Amino acid sequence: MKFSKLMEEMRTIRDYKKAPVEKALIQEVLDVGRTARGIAENASVLFIENGKELFDKLSGKAGYFGKMMEAPHYLAVVTKEGPGYLENSGYIMELMRMKAWELGLGTCWLSIQDESELKKILGVANTERLTAFAAIGYPYKGIFKKDISEKSSRLSMEEIVYLNQWNNSCTVEQLEQLGFANIIYFAKYAPSYGNRQPWKLIVDHDKIFLTVAEDGKPDTGLDAGIMMLYFEKASREEGISGVWKIDVTSDLYQKYAVPSNYRVVGYYQI
Ligand SMILES: Cc1cc2nc3c(=O)[nH]c(=O)nc-3n(C[C@H](O)[C@H](O)[C@H](O)COP(=O)(O)O)c2cc1C
Repeated sequence: MKFSKLMEEMRTIRDYKKAPVEKALIQEVLDVGRTARGIAENASVLFIENGKELFDKLSGKAGYFGKMMEAPHYLAVVTKEGPGYLENSGYIMELMRMKAWELGLGTCWLSIQDESELKKILGVANTERLTAFAAIGYPYKGIFKKDISEKSSRLSMEEIVYLNQWNNSCTVEQLEQLGFANIIYFAKYAPSYGNRQPWKLIVDHDKIFLTVAEDGKPDTGLDAGIMMLYFEKASREEGISGVWKIDVTSDLYQKYAVPSNYRVVGYYQI
């Protein structure tokens, strides 16, 4: 399936059948995570098979405000700290979520509330970071066997893109002229913590800068990594190849008038 279709279609699934997922399907999902060329090096993927037995222990440690989600299995990303490690974790987990959706599985990101307890329960070494966590299983569609829940809304393209400088609005027509309209159209579907969509993109010729709000809210690094994945995949499907760079220098803030409550994550170099 094309990534653009997955981006438009995929949504969070919060109810799962109790049945375990067929091993071959899980393997496909894990393979995608383990072979991904993300944003940085060094991440590995963990599969937690016995979700049912671990659910009580995991309660309070992950999920919005500690509200764990019951699922037959869970996925985690484990990594060393280093440049871009959170963005990389977001990228890799989301790539696995997309593969899962393509295979008819449902997933839900679970925000990590108590990382050190979670690491103890899952046997992750103290020298590692457990950065991303998600539930996975067959979606439960209710007794009517029809899933009628809707995808959460998203900001418009104009609300997330600036042209050349912060606060300099960019119309859809301008994006079309620049050849970026389709890319932004699909990238805006990126999911985020609480669906807050904390990103702004600044288009400057052959570079597209990604910034995220740094307002003390959790998981902005993961959110940024998810946007990087969506942008990259949408761009490649448009026939525009590029690569994310994270060598951000402090002069960029002044050059693009980025306010201090936003962080420049990196730029997509075409
Ligand atoms: C980093 C991150 C953490 C999240 N944590 C949770 C969570 O703990 N519980 C939950 O129900 N959903 C969680 N979500 C899912 C978002 O609420 C969801 O992606 C967003 O509302 C958009 O909805 P959609 O994915 O259906 O399009 C999280 C998403 C992200 C990206």
